Amino acid sequence: MIQPIAYKKTLEGKSRAHLITFDDGRDYVVKYFQPGFDKALANEWVAYCLARYLGLPIPFAQLVEIPQEFSSQYPELSQMAQSKTQFASLYVPDCYDGHQVTSVPAISNKESLAGVILFDYWMCNRDRTRKNIILCDNAGESYRLWIIDHAEVFASYNWTLQEIESLPITILKSATHQIMASFIENEQEFYEQLEIIQEIPIHLIEEIAALIPEDWQVTNEERKAIVSTLVTRRKKILRKLMERFIKRVFQPIHQNQE
Ligand SMILES: Nc1ncnc2c1ncn2[C@@H]1O[C@H](COP(=O)(O)OP(=O)(O)OP(=O)(O)O)[C@@H](O)[C@H]1O
Ligand SMILES: [Mg+2]
Repeated sequence: MIQPIAYKKTLEGKSRAHLITFDDGRDYVVKYFQPGFDKALANEWVAYCLARYLGLPIPFAQLVEIPQEFSSQYPELSQMAQSKTQFASLYVPDCYDGHQVTSVPAISNKESLAGVILFDYWMCNRDRTRKNIILCDNAGESYRLWIIDHAEVFASYNWTLQEIESLPITILKSATHQIMASFIENEQEFYEQLEIIQEIPIHLIEEIAALIPEDWQVTNEERKAIVSTLVTRRKKILRKLMERFIKRVFQPIHQNQE
């Protein structure tokens, strides 16, 4: 397991994420378990594994164990809850968030965008704000888009069993989805992604839930609820949401572009 070697800074945002250099020579954005945000890290983990399986543009991530002796050297870290495991996402340097880029001429990985939107609907990610995408400049001609911050999938960073079992089935208000939709060329792409999500082996989803670290205190019942919610949503709900999105968001944008 990679080990931390230097603390850099605290990043903006309610997760109080920290930028830390590890002994593989790379910088990671590290999120600690925070009371009151009890499901944030489990959400990050589940979303990361599934996004990775789907080949979505999510920064490489891993579970880490920052030793107490390291955290205690820095006031910013020593004030965080010292649970054993943290979630570390590889820092994508020299990029912008969606607020910092006022006009996007083109997206170099536009073939991933329908997948990202469908993923957000599947996971019930209500937090795909402009700050939760990263845009990397390709010589001013286009940007490569990355997705970050999945602390609020399942509609909340502190969902309860009752809440995850009855997630909203509504169109997500997201200016970022609108921007992404404008670069998707063919609505057929949504249908292809739907099929891919529906074919993810259930054993994989179960394994991802089982691998949520013990010290994040997700009960066995809650792990089962994660799996059953994902399975139910992809089978019974996702197609409806997708068709609503296509009709209400995707088609109007493209009709206006013609
Ligand atoms: N992998 C990454 N590469 C580069 N920058 C990142 C990465 N992950 C996070 N960041 C930066 O750190 C900030 C905080 O991270 P993140 O959005 O995951 O947490 P947050 O505190 O929950 O944010 P929010 O305020 O949206 O709830 C991001 O807005 C982004 O600027
Ligand atoms: Mg964020």
